[in-house]
Amino acid sequence: MRAVDWIRKKRDGGELSAEELAALIEGYTNGAVPDYQMAAWAMAVYYQGMTPRETADLTLAMARSGEQVDLSAIPGIKVDKHSTGGVGDTTTLVLGPLVAAAGIPVAKMSGRGLGHTGGTIDKLEAIPGFAVERTREAFLRQLREIGLAVISQSGNIAPADKLLYALRDVTATVDSIPLIASSIMSKKIASGADRILLDVKTGRGAFMKTLEASIELAQAMVEIGAQVGRETVAVITDMDEPLAPSIGNALEVREAVDTLAGRGPQQLTRLCLELASHMIRLGGKATTREEGLRLAEELLASGAALDKFKAMIAAQEGDPRIADQPELLPAARSVVPVVSPQDGYIASIDAEQLGVTAMRLGAGRAKKDDPIEPAVGIRLLRRSGDKVSAGEPLAELHMNEAEEVVTARMTAAALAAFRFSHEPPAPKPLIYAVITKEGIERMPQ
Ligand code: URA
Repeated sequence: MRAVDWIRKKRDGGELSAEELAALIEGYTNGAVPDYQMAAWAMAVYYQGMTPRETADLTLAMARSGEQVDLSAIPGIKVDKHSTGGVGDTTTLVLGPLVAAAGIPVAKMSGRGLGHTGGTIDKLEAIPGFAVERTREAFLRQLREIGLAVISQSGNIAPADKLLYALRDVTATVDSIPLIASSIMSKKIASGADRILLDVKTGRGAFMKTLEASIELAQAMVEIGAQVGRETVAVITDMDEPLAPSIGNALEVREAVDTLAGRGPQQLTRLCLELASHMIRLGGKATTREEGLRLAEELLASGAALDKFKAMIAAQEGDPRIADQPELLPAARSVVPVVSPQDGYIASIDAEQLGVTAMRLGAGRAKKDDPIEPAVGIRLLRRSGDKVSAGEPLAELHMNEAEEVVTARMTAAALAAFRFSHEPPAPKPLIYAVITKEGIERMPQ
């Protein structure tokens, strides 16, 4: 069979076999299948969907298209975590050390930020000296020695996905649940973890804007995990509003340190404990989620998680003193207040609008190769539900640019994220649902 037959089969609602999908992906990776045929096939998938078996086989084919990290030399169950991306989402910097402190090896390969969402690697690079590129040997040695390493994802992890994602981006085929699910899971599987925890964000600042779409994506990924023998749990969490007050790389490192030291913002701390409870159960260090939660709380309170973070910074050539002296982190040249134009309650704060504003300040990148400025960003001083008076500061802009017109434009852009009301808004949930292979558990709202 040739590519045209596989396109026709999918176009007509048929199911491709594992061998056909493997041949398609191999052909696409080595150039035998051209972009125009792959684009036609992706569009056929967009309209016809894929069965769970096909989605799992596509995932494996993409995971096998490049390097597959072998973590078998590291004792214990390796648990990875992935977030579908958000604004002020510093969880990896807290969760990695927290879960590693429980004795579960955390071998994480992370990405950089793009558009309004941040990336863990950019955040870590805000720590003076921190090295995100490691040889495979150094990565494994660090894992054996301290049980925690967070490095930049190598270009050779799931290269077929890289090609296909770029093609989908320009052929209006990104928004397909089986294609998104297989794209994310192929990279996780190639990265070598035994079990996977997914933080699927939902809302204005998230990739998936509605709860139902987020649940559907989570279910597809949990199903792939079950089909390929890597237990996967997904937690659906809110991203209408930024998760935590800081948006920007050095600001988020500071906030992660505060959280590891037990004085972090309440929402971020709660989410990290909740996600850690699942990872600790998946890693076999607790038999129930409740037991996992108790252990996570103890590791935070005892300082063990913060010590693990310092050990990772030192192992990756960064300056661990930032944990006790945050003033050693890069700081912006000026801090500009954003003040409330009126009295009332903050009804909502738009995560995407703030993420885009932080990006325009220099904290993120509009295009893949744009440079970023580690010190700049936004700090929210108020959250939705708070009562405020006209003239009261709502947020701070940490800026390197001092020009008045830029400051005015950025202040207006940050303010546009706020909606006000006369009555207090209804409280919003942080966690909507947990999806396991057993089904959906919706959280009481
Ligand atoms: N993130 C990914 O890694 N892949 C997608 O297809 C969408 C979001």
